[in-house]
Amino acid sequence: MCLSDGLSFNAVQPSVKLSSLRFTGSTAGIASLQTVDSVDATILVDNSIDILLPSADHVIRPSLTWDWSRRPQLRAEHGYSLLFNVQKRGSVKTILYDAGLSPDTITHNLAVLGIKLTDLDAIVLSHGHADHHGGLFGIVHSLGKKNLPLILHPDAWKNRKIRFPSGSEMHMPPPDRRALEKNDVRIIDSRAPSLLLSDQALVTGQVERVTDYEKGFPLQYEEKELEHWESDPWIWDDQGIVFNVNGRGLVVASSCSHSGAVNVLRNAQRITGANKVHAFIGGMHLTGGTFEKIIPQTIQDVKTIHPDIIVPGHCTGWKATHLLSREMPDAYVQASVGTQIHFG
Ligand SMILES: [Fe+2]
Ligand SMILES: [Fe+2]
Repeated sequence: MCLSDGLSFNAVQPSVKLSSLRFTGSTAGIASLQTVDSVDATILVDNSIDILLPSADHVIRPSLTWDWSRRPQLRAEHGYSLLFNVQKRGSVKTILYDAGLSPDTITHNLAVLGIKLTDLDAIVLSHGHADHHGGLFGIVHSLGKKNLPLILHPDAWKNRKIRFPSGSEMHMPPPDRRALEKNDVRIIDSRAPSLLLSDQALVTGQVERVTDYEKGFPLQYEEKELEHWESDPWIWDDQGIVFNVNGRGLVVASSCSHSGAVNVLRNAQRITGANKVHAFIGGMHLTGGTFEKIIPQTIQDVKTIHPDIIVPGHCTGWKATHLLSREMPDAYVQASVGTQIHFG
């Protein structure tokens, strides 16, 4: 079953090539995602932290120090942000994917980790929810870079709210476009897939919905006109980043997976033409009463896709995370703020 808003998704829409900012006019650019030697993902913001987790072969945890209790500490919050270092033939490129919830958590955690983003090539926003863009202005302001590309889907600018079954409502304001533009951010809206970093990274654009059980976010509304709210369940702005690591396969990052984690993985396979998924990292949005009922089906389908590594974080929720660790013990990596995972 293919679910569509009727006008937004088109499987053969042109890709955007960020390096040239020209529409390529065909899907050839999508399939031309270049392989890279390795990708390192650092979790800058996530819902949890456990400083006692040990490092492993491809997983580096922040080091413990004698004076740890007197040092600034990494912060966890309901939000998500990943930093990617992409390596090919000795050259390293860097992408920031989302920026957490609070204005200063990402900049604080970067300082604690000793990471400077002076060579940041681009920022990608997964969607318009505040737990992914809240730290955007802070990071842009602190970098002070001119013309830094920010890639997002145009629906990310929607003013939204969540109406819970209890009757309580939560505002989900979009990013502040004017403030970003004032800080010389080069905003690139695209519903289509975009290739960036010399075709070494693919921003998926909106995700094709093919499963019959991943139904977006039924509790969400958008403000169509001033104080006139309409149901807005699909979150078409939800998008991920995909890399193709030489000899391993696809690394798929998806911050909140409002499209559904299985849709996200199948979409990555479809638009790259590659079947092997090496890794998934991100939120799977399986927490809360609305979503817990699809945990078994989601995990069953993720198992058939068979990623070598799975790093469920953020909105995956305790129940789904626990089940994933039990069902996919060899692939499962526990997410924690400050963790760096090496893919390659
Ligand atoms: Fe979200
Ligand atoms: Fe989220």
